[in-house]
Formats: sequence, structure tokens, C-alpha cells
Amino acid sequence: MATYRVAPQLQPTLQLRLQEARARTDALFRLLPHESLYDRPIPERHRLIFYLGHLEAFDWNLLRNALELPAPATELDRLFAFGIDPVDGGLPTDTPADWPTIAQVERYNRRVREIFDEALGGARASRSSSADLTDGTLLHVAIEHRLMHAETLAYLLHNLPVDRKLPHAAPVADVRPSPKPQNVRIAAGIATLGQARGAAFGWDNEFETERVAVPSFSIDAYPVTNGEYLKFVQAGGYGEPRYWRAEDWEWKSGANLEHPHFWKRRSGTSHDEAVNQWEYRAMFGNIPLPLSWPVFVSHAEASAYARWVGRKLPTEAQWHRAAYGAHDQTESAYPWGDAPPNPTRGNFHFKSWDAAPVDTHPAGASAFGVFDLLGNGWEWTSTVFGPLPGFKAFSFYPGYSANFFDGKHFVMKGGSPQTDACMLRRSFRNWFQPHYPYVYATFRCVED
Ligand SMILES: [Fe+2]
Repeated sequence: MATYRVAPQLQPTLQLRLQEARARTDALFRLLPHESLYDRPIPERHRLIFYLGHLEAFDWNLLRNALELPAPATELDRLFAFGIDPVDGGLPTDTPADWPTIAQVERYNRRVREIFDEALGGARASRSSSADLTDGTLLHVAIEHRLMHAETLAYLLHNLPVDRKLPHAAPVADVRPSPKPQNVRIAAGIATLGQARGAAFGWDNEFETERVAVPSFSIDAYPVTNGEYLKFVQAGGYGEPRYWRAEDWEWKSGANLEHPHFWKRRSGTSHDEAVNQWEYRAMFGNIPLPLSWPVFVSHAEASAYARWVGRKLPTEAQWHRAAYGAHDQTESAYPWGDAPPNPTRGNFHFKSWDAAPVDTHPAGASAFGVFDLLGNGWEWTSTVFGPLPGFKAFSFYPGYSANFFDGKHFVMKGGSPQTDACMLRRSFRNWFQPHYPYVYATFRCVED
């Protein structure tokens, strides 16, 4: 790890970033009255109180060996150790009384932060024999783990009824029209997935590189908007099995899903009525359906739409090629070039609680003229999540990716309004199972 050695004098930068990440998640919990912390906004997930303790318990379990801290093996370290993935098994059945009080969890959090901050700034960190600590990997993991939870907490809070959150300014209607769909031809070329070891931090699934030859194809210039998706809903797409994979149809029917999870049919209206009969469930209240925003849907719904229009979801390599490639066969770090992300490039880094029109950030377009690639919603691909050649699991977190190499998860690329800018790097890969409609995930279609 020659080029990736974090010298002791650089450690304060990572410590500062950890403080910033803590401020980010603390601010999310401050959107809630205390009584809501025992709510479970998504049936498959834990009650919110779990996440309040989980972030500190994760850091504790991750760093205590490297820092040679005494292991008190408290009950709370264990209770808050792991989240759950909703693929298999039934729904959780715990009750609020099974969890500690908020005061107990807050006391635990304060104690863990005190112990770490002292250890990280002192002799324990500088004499640690853990290479993962001294090269900065463990702190990067703690920071990005927390920032990923900032995003998943946003999904959870989004799904909480508005009256279970503290009062907040109501969202305003966005009546801008959806841009006319356009198709962009992408020339054949190489897409480089992943990153080489030794240069920068990445999660285990980002290593090593794979160069994929991508034949020419065409891709939507914008993600599919609510306005475009509405045509599929109005055409009866949710009632037509031939657009759905068998397991997707079964899931959709069992869940009684007739439209995207973020939409709500105004009461007293029927299927036949017009656009203005739909509402959109924004973070802090409902607004008329914003036609120009990317539609947020599950992989199952995205795939059904693609089949309806006679197209497909892009593969991970096609998405890379459209985002980072160019006619001259160079590849850039970001769609717009190599400059670091800033707010003109897209709707990311906690810029907004909700999406924005897909044509809001022309400065974020790729060399091929594909818009809105980073931010404003993760984008589904047809690629099943799996290891890149040379994959090695982190020894300190062996299940981070490998537990999901089960053929049941699909790669998402891009980022959402609630994705921190550090995770907009080209090699970053997100993944979800296809039947989870709560995520800020959109899509665009391709044709070979
Ligand atoms: Fe976690």
C-alpha cells in the first residue's frame, strides 16, 4: 500500500471527516421527536432506535482491536452490532420494550465517542500494529459506513408519516414539465470497472480493475421521469404479467403494488383519471406528482417498464461507458471530467431531501451527452452484484460484500440526493435486491 499510506499527520483529516459524518447522522435523528425513535417505518427493517446505537457500536467493534482498547463486551455492543437485509426470512417481531431507553443509548454513544477520540489522537493510534488502521482503511470504513447509514436513515425517515417527524417547511409543488426523452448513441469502447489496489480507499468490492469491451449501444439521455413512467401506469403495465419476470410479478401481486411506492393516488379517484389525480410523497409532505423528477422504483418495476418500451436496463459496463467514456477512448474520473464534485454537477451530497428535474444540472453531463448520472437517484443496472477479478474480502469485515454475492442483488450506480460526495467515485458500487421499493433508485433504458 505504498501510495496509500496515511502519514500520522494526515490522520486528523480523517478524524475531522469522522466528526462531520457524526454531525450528519446526529442531525437526522434531530428531525424526530423522541417517541418516534421506537417506530419502524419500513416493516423489513429495525426500529429507528437500533440505528441510533448501531453507528457507535459498529465503530466500536471495528476499531477496538486495532486501538487495543479494553473489551468490556457490553450488552449494547452486541445488541447494536448488525443490521438486517430483507431478502429471506420473515419480518422482525420485536417490541419497543425489547430495546434500551434513549437515555441509555445516548450515554453509550457519548462514551464510545470519548474513548475513540482520545485513542485516535493519542499514543494508542500511533503505536498500533494494525496496518488497516495506520493506512487509514479502518477510519474510511467507519466514515463511509456512517454516511451510507445517513442515506438509509433518510429512506427510513421518508417513509415515516409526516406527523411522526418534527415540524418542517412543507415541500412546494414542482410543475416543470418533463424534458422530451432523447436517445444518445454510445460508440463502442472500453469501460474500466473497479480500481487498482494501492491508490485510494475503496470497499472490497471495488477491487481490482476489469476492462470490459462494450459494443456500441444507445441509452436514454435522462433517467426515466415520473411523467414518462406515468404512461406505463396508465397503460395498465402493473396489470400485465408479460412485462414482469415471474418472481417480480409474484412479489408485486403479493404486495398489492399498483404504482411506484413514492406515489399516492388521491382518494376518490380512479384509474381513468388524469395526471393531477396523483400525489407524490416528498420527505416532508405530499405534492402534485412532479413529472420532471426521476421516478423512484424497485428493480422489478424498472425492468417491467423497460420491457414495456422494448428496451433493457443497462449493464454495469454499459453504464460506465456512457458515464465515463468518450469518443477518443479516454475515461474520466466523473462524467463531467476529472474535477471533484460540486453542487452544479448534480443533486447529491445532501443537497435536497427530494429529487430535482432530470435536466437541472447540464454541467454534470458526460462526454457523450448523457445527463443526471451522478445524484438525483441511484440507477439500476441489469448486472447481478458479484466480485471483480482479484476480489479479496476485508479481513475485518468479511461479509460486507461477500454476503450479497448470492445472485439476488443488482448493482446500482450513480448516487442520490442523500449520497455523500465521497461515494461518487467511479469505482463505488451499490446494490439492492429487486423487491425493495423504498430506495432512492431510478433507471434509464438502453438498446443494443
Ligand atoms: Fe451498518
